[in-house]
Amino acid sequence: MSEARALCASAIAIVILAITSPNSALGLSARENFQRYCVQCHGPEGRGDGVNATKDLGATPKDLTNAEGLGRLTDDRVGEIIAKGGARNELSPLMPPWGNTLTGEEIRGLVRLIRDLCKCTFKP
Ligand code: HEC
Repeated sequence: MSEARALCASAIAIVILAITSPNSALGLSARENFQRYCVQCHGPEGRGDGVNATKDLGATPKDLTNAEGLGRLTDDRVGEIIAKGGARNELSPLMPPWGNTLTGEEIRGLVRLIRDLCKCTFKP
């Protein structure tokens, strides 16, 4: 196969992948979405120590590894906070809403990722 044909075949493969990736605008994994949209505040490991987490931010991004704090929230509630943001959930408006950026499936993926970070589940 010539180089041009190989290139063309891989371009087609990429387009097919993009079209068929389930429910996702960019087709990113939960980890990739976290790296792209959350780390600047919550930090690379979710400890609430991202580059934006300075005194001047006005609210402390939650430590998502905190099992006690996250254990008080149901998965639905964590999803609501991510989708609708702090302002709509009696939290600081500095936690942005992501419902127009991420699909429901991507938000559920982030909830699962946060459960991995806190190594916790909802404790009624
Ligand atoms: C601009 C900074 C910023 C970004 C970006 C951000 N957050 Fe937040 N987040 C916050 C702040 C600040 C709070 C705490 C609000 C409060 O305490 O009132 C928070 C709170 C939360 C909470 C509530 C946790 C709890 O224990 O109550 C969750 C869950 C959360 N963020 C997830 C995410 C996810 C997932 C993303 C990426 C899609 C994200 N955040 C992006 C600033 C941010």
